[in-house]
Amino acid sequence: MEIISNPTQVEIRKAARALKDGHLVAFPTETVYGLGADATNENAVSRVYSVKARPTDHPLIVHISSINQLAKWAIDIPEYAIKLAKEFWPGPMTLILKRTEIAKDFITGGQENVGVRVPSHPVALALLSEFEMLGGLGVAAPSANRFGKVSPTSSTDVQEELGKYLDDTDQILDGGRSWVGIESTIINCLSDSPEVLRPGLIALEAITKVAGINLKIEGLTNEIKTPGTLPAHYSPKAKVVTQGVAKKGEGFLALANIETPHGAIRLAAPLTVDQFAKQLYESLRLADQKGLTKVVVVPPDGDGLAMAIRDRLNKASK
Ligand code: TXA
Ligand code: MG
Repeated sequence: MEIISNPTQVEIRKAARALKDGHLVAFPTETVYGLGADATNENAVSRVYSVKARPTDHPLIVHISSINQLAKWAIDIPEYAIKLAKEFWPGPMTLILKRTEIAKDFITGGQENVGVRVPSHPVALALLSEFEMLGGLGVAAPSANRFGKVSPTSSTDVQEELGKYLDDTDQILDGGRSWVGIESTIINCLSDSPEVLRPGLIALEAITKVAGINLKIEGLTNEIKTPGTLPAHYSPKAKVVTQGVAKKGEGFLALANIETPHGAIRLAAPLTVDQFAKQLYESLRLADQKGLTKVVVVPPDGDGLAMAIRDRLNKASK
């Protein structure tokens, strides 16, 4: 497998060609790195599942270069979903919509709906455009980590996670550290009102405002269930806890204004909630690299990303 740092247009075109030929290409997005495959190629998609060791009933998100490609994958799109797409794409938002016949069972996990996203990272967008110019319809891309583990936010993370499972003909495109740092907000658009299945950067309030309809909030807690995910997810080897005081030799992560408990090993000192999200997975990986057995995290308060951070920590600590 080849790692291509700061890919040029020509290299991105080659990567698109590789995708079209059925190879896997890991690529940067603003949220986390994805492991890409031609979303219409069953063999390529089945390799994604085996490289990740992911159960095949977990659906994959289809990535497209713009809202103009949406009709290929989804039908009966509600008005509010169009509004959301126009406002937040390209960006860290995935919409769950009724599928067209292009979206086969091997993408949707056998469900009648499909997840679609237009990422905003320039390398991702260039790759998707080149892929579409070659006649491609969309790129399936789950986070480029082994199932249940911490999502990668750099090309080095991808190599560590998946390097030994990828082939010589697969590629990893490098595009720097993902700047959001946690996965996209997933919004279920299958009924009269939108429902957030996985919180992310885009705050609930912003979604309600743009959609012009109140969110379905039944059962919405800090522990939102994404269909197809187990409660335990996003987990490093180290045990993650969000309560208690870090002891000597234990990892510690909190906003910079919170002091490090005596003897604890500070993994990061983010100044803002945005930085916290960006550094969260990096810090959990660092804890494993340092061989720590436990990490105490003080979760940030608030809506938007803070809520998304609490959601991920909740799952990481299961
Ligand atoms: O930010 C992201 O969304 C990243 C980047 C690479 O785009 N992708 C990502 O994919 O996080 P993944 O597969 O690691 O997580 C997607 C989640 C899974 O829990 C999956 O079950 C859910 O989205 N999902 C995908 N398609 C779905 C569908 N049709 N219905 C319900 N849930 C779906
Ligand atoms: Mg994932």
